Amino acid sequence: RSSLPQRDAADRSEPSDEDTGGDIDWDNLGFGLTPTDYMYVMRCSLEDVVFSRGELSRYGNIELSPSSGVINYGQGLFEGLKAYRTANRQGYMLFRPEENARRMQHGAERMCMPSPSVEQFVHAVKQTVLANRRWVPPQGKGALYIRPLLIGSGPILGLAPAPEYTFLVYASPVGTYFKEGLAPINLVVQDAFHRAMPGGTGGVKTIANYAPVLKAQMDAKSKGFTDVLYLDAVHKRYLEEASSCNLFIVKDGVVATPATVGTILPGITRKSVIELARDRGYQVEERLVSIDDLMGADEVFCTGTAVVVAPVSTVTYQGQRYEFKTGQDTLSQTLHMALTSIQKGLAEDKKGWTVAI
Ligand code: COI
Repeated sequence: RSSLPQRDAADRSEPSDEDTGGDIDWDNLGFGLTPTDYMYVMRCSLEDVVFSRGELSRYGNIELSPSSGVINYGQGLFEGLKAYRTANRQGYMLFRPEENARRMQHGAERMCMPSPSVEQFVHAVKQTVLANRRWVPPQGKGALYIRPLLIGSGPILGLAPAPEYTFLVYASPVGTYFKEGLAPINLVVQDAFHRAMPGGTGGVKTIANYAPVLKAQMDAKSKGFTDVLYLDAVHKRYLEEASSCNLFIVKDGVVATPATVGTILPGITRKSVIELARDRGYQVEERLVSIDDLMGADEVFCTGTAVVVAPVSTVTYQGQRYEFKTGQDTLSQTLHMALTSIQKGLAEDKKGWTVAI
């Protein structure tokens, strides 16, 4: 059963579109966590392989064994997607949620975990949005960010797959990811630390890819940069991605982005933006993109669910600062508009990317 859970007498307020999310300042959301009302939880044992029916419960702390696989050995994956309030306020829109479901399945295979079916994943996401609908920001103010997790929740001591798995979906209203808002960002190339290596897990969304970038990220932020750009671990010459998003360069009207060869996260925004650029007549190359290619680029931008399409104004490499075109008449601006118009239901979705709730 996955309908809304029973509410106690003190909690009769059915969330509705008319309700606002408490005292929330919709104009200054940023990307901080705002706890919402409900989360969706579903469990599965390693033996069963199939997840049982999940259900909504009040958002709150979860109980985990101190010896759970996720805490001890990092056996976990996460996803990220957004729900927007539609223009006519009659519903909500998800963007390609099946892609997130499939990416989680692919990651689960790499991390030796069972995964929810695409239908179970999408159902859980829809239920989470509906249960928390009063937290979906008004049009133009942001989105409800949905965070599905798949974790090895069962106890294990020796290194092995956990005996039990939990799929959990929670949500938080968000605005822009970077503190710059929609303004162009400044990146610094990192050549001492690496995010991923060939044969590793850079191509899946495991939680284990994210804590290791914190040190470089903190260092970059302390020097005034927005985020870190990673190079490949073998040649230290080819661009991979930033800590939280994919990268694109534009040179003489040709677009290039690092090919997803196992060390780069196959972003859903990345994939969509490639298609939108090709639809507009741009040649888009998925290939090795060297640091020299970047230095000679006219325009640089990042893509991701959280960052959407973020223009890059400068990249600093070995103390040298390179500047790129931003603002009016840039491809990143065109793509940002094209993508978000579809996501918010402001433009016709000819591709069938959106899912109405
Ligand atoms: C997303 O864009 O959804 C991500 O998962 C990146 C995360 C670091 C916020």
